[in-house]
Amino acid sequence: MTPKSIKSTTADTNLFHPPKSIVRKANIKDYDKTYERSITDREGFWADEAKKLKWYKKWKTVLDDTNKPFYKWFTGGKINIVDNAIDRHLATHRRNKLAMIWEGEPGDVKTMSYHALNREVSKFANVLKSMGVRKGEIVTIYMPQIPELPIAMLACAKIGAMHSVVYGGFSTEALAGRIADANSRVLVTADGGWRRGKITDLKSIANEAMDRSPTIEVCITVKRTEHEVHMENDRDFWYHDLMSLPIASPKCETEVMDAEDPLFILFTSGTTGKPKGLVHTHGGYSVYTSTTHRYVFDIKDEDRWWCAADPGWITGHSYLVYGPLINGATIMLYEGAPNHPYPNRWWNMIEKYGITILYTSPTAIRGLMRFGDQWPQRHDISSLRLLGSVGEPINPEAWRWYHEVIGDGKCPIMDTWWQTETGGFMIAPLPITPLKPGSATKPFFGVEVGVVDENGKEVAAGEEGKLVIKAPWPGMARTIFGDPDRYVDTYWKEYEKQGWYKAGDSARIDEDGYVWVIGRIDDVIKVSGYRLGTAEVESALVSHPMVSEAAAIALPHEVKGNAIHTYVILKAGEKGDKKLEEELKKHVSDEMGPIAKPEAVHFLESLPKTRSGKIMRRVLKARAMGVDEGDLSTLED
Ligand code: WT7
Repeated sequence: MTPKSIKSTTADTNLFHPPKSIVRKANIKDYDKTYERSITDREGFWADEAKKLKWYKKWKTVLDDTNKPFYKWFTGGKINIVDNAIDRHLATHRRNKLAMIWEGEPGDVKTMSYHALNREVSKFANVLKSMGVRKGEIVTIYMPQIPELPIAMLACAKIGAMHSVVYGGFSTEALAGRIADANSRVLVTADGGWRRGKITDLKSIANEAMDRSPTIEVCITVKRTEHEVHMENDRDFWYHDLMSLPIASPKCETEVMDAEDPLFILFTSGTTGKPKGLVHTHGGYSVYTSTTHRYVFDIKDEDRWWCAADPGWITGHSYLVYGPLINGATIMLYEGAPNHPYPNRWWNMIEKYGITILYTSPTAIRGLMRFGDQWPQRHDISSLRLLGSVGEPINPEAWRWYHEVIGDGKCPIMDTWWQTETGGFMIAPLPITPLKPGSATKPFFGVEVGVVDENGKEVAAGEEGKLVIKAPWPGMARTIFGDPDRYVDTYWKEYEKQGWYKAGDSARIDEDGYVWVIGRIDDVIKVSGYRLGTAEVESALVSHPMVSEAAAIALPHEVKGNAIHTYVILKAGEKGDKKLEEELKKHVSDEMGPIAKPEAVHFLESLPKTRSGKIMRRVLKARAMGVDEGDLSTLED
């Protein structure tokens, strides 16, 4: 290892000033004045940004807050996100610009111009129509990271159907639950995908999930890996077969939608019970994702943008697909593992395609950092001009490595704080912002944040409290699909009087107004940046015939940030041993997906509970970490 990664000895609170070359060319030259205006004239600010998009009909009202907290944006306006992400580029020089560069894990490559993307999306939109897909219906998409995934999303949006993308790393139970919640009639999947040289057998998982899903009538399968899969008569169709039929015409009208018409639902884990399907819209979401992407990542026509997140998560929806395409960028999509076949895979692709901006997560950075500086140093990655981070707070070592070794000390790192619920960046620097490693810096335009105590009182500078958002923004989720009460309860109840949104994170704001997000304060665990509910892991464990009760907590992990540790009470007469521990780990992985696989399963006789029967996870955590257990007055036993 070269000592490059330890060259910088800067303390984590030191300021990193962006290079002059970046500041001089930045899309936005000033933060304070624009921020001030975005707050004092919120609607004027967002109206100006909305005007940069194409509307079939202009909105009447920018913000309708007559039914709080069910805010509406750009009401009366008519728009379709696909008209902005594809159609309008076709009349410009962008028609023949690359919209997408894709590399499969085995090394196959596909590129697509905006012209070609439009053809593929239109053809598949017509296929969906021929299957009877209608405006407002929800199509479930369960796919590896192949071009057909964004194509399927865009095809749904084009004809006014909603998509519900289920991350391809999830398993049967998670997929079946999401299909049921969305009432999906149509599932789009693939025979498999490539990951670490192996096939992930998506179609078999999809088949099992469909066996539990009475609503499914049609399944369209992309042939990717070409291994043998089971196809059912009358239900299963090959994507390529349908795309070669006359019905798959490359001409398809983009549906005119109301600004507030739903675009997609995306499930995310919460504190209790089932994952919630958050609803995002055509209008506000288009404005918010494109504006944040344009300013924070300073996007230029000549950029090659790589958001290395899976399209199955909100990061992929907002910043792999929609925001960048609206901004007419060239997007990069890669199918497989970052270290396959060697840990230089990403750096090789950055060099090969001349990627200019890389947006990824601290866990991915830590994972690649582990292999040493020699892997990136084998490549000329000097095309990079900006870097980004998302998913969890970035630790100073990872920040410095990313900055020095990947960014050669010259690429500012945009640490973006946001959530599935927020649709887009909420706290993030601009390329002109002096950076403090580990802080997402300041609120984006139009976003008002606070750090408060239980009573909603602002805490002093530097003190920890709960992160709240004090005013609505266009990219906000509109509701939880099918459960508006839960939407109100989860996010708006706690600070009902003030009308604030509760983020579920703790944070502090320093004397310079920089926000430092610390982590979740609810029973949500971030593992490798992925969000999981303790309740989901626990119910997966309890679904095993030998388990009576279970608790899951997060403990620090060097690469993943957090790892899941579980505590299990077995049914009477059962004995916990190493073999059962492995079996239970596998059981959770089979039910939910490999990301939820516990690091450890401990067998206990009893769990610490409150008198009302709630598991006190913080007590388990304190014990595991060997720290003070805190206030035990509510402990039952
Ligand atoms: C939670 C939201 C938003 C895309 C990916 C995650 C944590 C996210 C940061 C950051 C510190 C962060 C928070 C948040 N988080 N970005 N830059 N610094 N923490 O979306 O799965 O909805 O998770 O991720 O805890 O609440 P998500």
